[in-house]
Amino acid sequence: MNECKVAVIGATGAVGQVFLKIAEERQFPISQIRLCASERSIGKTLKFNSEEIPVELCTRELLEEVDFAFISASGDISREFAPIAAEVGTVAIDDSSAFRMDQSVPLVVPEVNANDLDSHQGIVAIPNCSTTPLVMVLKSLSKVSKVKRVVVDTFQSVTGTGSAALQELEDQSSKILSNQNFSVNEYPHQIAFNVLPHIEPFQENGYTREEMKMVYETRKILHDEQLMVSATCVRVPVPISHSESMHIEFEDRVSPEEVRQILSTEAGIKVMDDPFSDVYPMPIQATGIDDVLVGRIRKDVSHPNGIAMWVVCDNLRKGAALNAIQIAEQMMKKDVVKHSNWR
Ligand SMILES: NC(=O)c1ccc[n+]([C@@H]2O[C@H](COP(=O)([O-])OP(=O)(O)OC[C@H]3O[C@@H](n4cnc5c(N)ncnc54)[C@H](OP(=O)(O)O)[C@@H]3O)[C@@H](O)[C@H]2O)c1
Repeated sequence: MNECKVAVIGATGAVGQVFLKIAEERQFPISQIRLCASERSIGKTLKFNSEEIPVELCTRELLEEVDFAFISASGDISREFAPIAAEVGTVAIDDSSAFRMDQSVPLVVPEVNANDLDSHQGIVAIPNCSTTPLVMVLKSLSKVSKVKRVVVDTFQSVTGTGSAALQELEDQSSKILSNQNFSVNEYPHQIAFNVLPHIEPFQENGYTREEMKMVYETRKILHDEQLMVSATCVRVPVPISHSESMHIEFEDRVSPEEVRQILSTEAGIKVMDDPFSDVYPMPIQATGIDDVLVGRIRKDVSHPNGIAMWVVCDNLRKGAALNAIQIAEQMMKKDVVKHSNWR
């Protein structure tokens, strides 16, 4: 397949908008594009490759007419449309968490587990935007020594919640600075000038659903059910790009030099590590670029086989839209777009 027909479901959203930008930048070979959103957006047009495209509602008939449906709307919308897409022979590439842990659905970061695409049955899921950089780093470093355990703390931007949360951060910030009353809708507390150790609902074990997603998704993608993962996910008042502090425990001793050397040769990863010159990754540098940035690589002084580092990644690009496009590119390259129907 040299060219494909695509539908973008959630085209007006934070991920959908970045999807259109990246598809243009990469010249993703689209022969026809259909843009879908909710009833609220009917009547709007969106620009793609300088053409004004009308926003439509997603239907079974529309899904029958495309090769790929990129779904970035919500779990409910994915649960409604992804099975229909698979049924009519279209590949659904889904950004939501709806199908990530379904055994018949590959959960894919192409640099890590592209081979899992071979057995897809019409739905492919992308991981949570915090899991993606984590598995890219762990997969690369497992070439040096088996990874036994990782403790990861995330500092996640508001666009991880969607475009309404970005609007809320901007609104609260300007109102607080000018001493006006402000509203709190997207989070349980104000996000401007604050930090929330709370992303998604709390579970019985005291972790949040977001934190447990990092545990389960990491094991699934790396095909390692024994891997020990503990996460604390924190929302911070940053517009775009998630940061992560990682403490990784290996089976053998691994030096920071080895880690730096391995990571600097990996596709999709860029090492920025010169702390004495104030060089380390920050969200303002990661935003708008494709690479996962890694710095502050050091020996973990609390464990003989431990390494600590700081990782930053644009949650809308590699954390979502770029990963989805790379999956489609891989599927076209591997010639595995056609599939037998789901279930
Ligand atoms: N943001 C991230 O960093 C990130 C990363 C990985 C995965 N994801 C996942 O990607 C999805 C979208 O996230 P987002 O941040 O882009 O959210 P968002 O900014 O809130 O956008 C939601 C999109 O869904 C559309 N939508 C709502 N109801 C719909 C319907 N009935 N039919 C079709 N489209 C409908 C909205 O259209 P209207 O404009 O018409 O309301 C909008 O385009 C979520 O499942 C999220 O979990 C997000």
